[in-house]
Amino acid sequence: SQELIRKLEETIENVPDFPIPGIQFKDISPIFLDPKLYEDVIADLVAFSKGKVDAVCGIESRGYLFGIAIAVALEVPFILIRKSGKLPPPVISEKYDLEYGSAVIETREGQIKPGQKVLIHDDLLATGGTTEAAAKLVEKQGAIVSQFSFLIGLKDLKGEEKLEKFNAEVYHILKY
Ligand code: PRP
Ligand code: MG
Repeated sequence: SQELIRKLEETIENVPDFPIPGIQFKDISPIFLDPKLYEDVIADLVAFSKGKVDAVCGIESRGYLFGIAIAVALEVPFILIRKSGKLPPPVISEKYDLEYGSAVIETREGQIKPGQKVLIHDDLLATGGTTEAAAKLVEKQGAIVSQFSFLIGLKDLKGEEKLEKFNAEVYHILKY
């Protein structure tokens, strides 16, 4: 809703030149100081996915902050997608480029089931590299990427173009 968007815009802090010059960092931590606002964010994200997915994948680490609450509310499994070296074998891995640097993400083999319709959730869609890698992990396991949700989409970085090939619904509460 417009009211939720307005409240988030005044709550999320824009920090210029962090973590490196030229990056406008969106600090979502003030949201967690306001339990009512957090509840409203979850309700909004749950409404998008209600009845549409069999599982939720959240991307370490900020994707966990909302992803688990979404999965619990939808009464579906939550699967952790983690940065490399954190999960014990067997894992499935995918390399990706970040807005700054590159990384590998992994998920435990077998937790995502073949044929499941999956929501991939993260706090932020920037270049789309992280989310694209997560979607590849989901497809490698024979599951279907049916939705992506984010708190924030950054419009200049064209992240949504990277997600087009998955033919999934894309939702973000607000855009910068
Ligand atoms: C940030 C953000 C997204 C990703 C978006 O995570 O939380 O996960 O970058 O960037 P992209 O669309 O360009 O791939 P980061 O890797 O900084 O780690 P964190 O969530 O652990 O803070
Ligand atoms: Mg992240």
